Amino acid sequence: MSTELPESYGPPPEGQPSPPSRRTFIATTTAVGGAVMAGGLVAGASPTGAAETSAAEVPPSGRVSLTVNGKRHTAVIDNRTSLLDLLREQLGLPGTKKGCNAGACGACTVLVDGERSEMGVPPAGGWGRVNSCLTLAVRLDGAEVTTIEGLADGDELHPLQQAFVDQDAFQCGFCTPGQIMSGVGCIEEGHTDSAEEIREWMSGNICRCGCYVKIVRAVEQTARRK
Ligand code: FES
Ligand code: FES
Repeated sequence: MSTELPESYGPPPEGQPSPPSRRTFIATTTAVGGAVMAGGLVAGASPTGAAETSAAEVPPSGRVSLTVNGKRHTAVIDNRTSLLDLLREQLGLPGTKKGCNAGACGACTVLVDGERSEMGVPPAGGWGRVNSCLTLAVRLDGAEVTTIEGLADGDELHPLQQAFVDQDAFQCGFCTPGQIMSGVGCIEEGHTDSAEEIREWMSGNICRCGCYVKIVRAVEQTARRK
């Protein structure tokens, strides 16, 4: 099924102002700084120059169509939008967490097309668990994405979700969605022969609260029952 996003999900129509973002702020600040520094050299710049400047500030955008948790979405987005921001801010799926926003914590891990990839780079044969904060959404045109919201089968928890409950494997819970999505990938990849192997293949997902032992146990429990 195709879900055409309301217009409010895409960039504002041409001619309408867009709300300021961190990126816009930085870009604007940089542009203003550049103008001040160059002010002495370009004093009296022509109106044509001003028009060129404002055209250059329009962010490049593109249409992306992807299936998230079995539901098709199409949106026009700023080409610099991360998959994480698309999920959380435009598709209303806040289960995927934003921790470091820099690829260092794993809180934003989702599954893309079911195969493993490193740091958002698609290997030959497909994608896998990815850090959605590092993945440009426009690169996923046509892809299938699974987030924590799409893991349960109706009211029935995914076996790894159930194992997290059984093992009491969460405390603050902030890292939990990423841990679970990464754990599902780890199990599917078959890297679960020992606790050490699980730790190695889950090393991109950080838990700072002392639950890590239980997280590993939950992955072991699920792998044994697979
Ligand atoms: S938010 Fe930390 S790796 Fe993406
Ligand atoms: S459950 Fe929050 S950091 Fe581990």
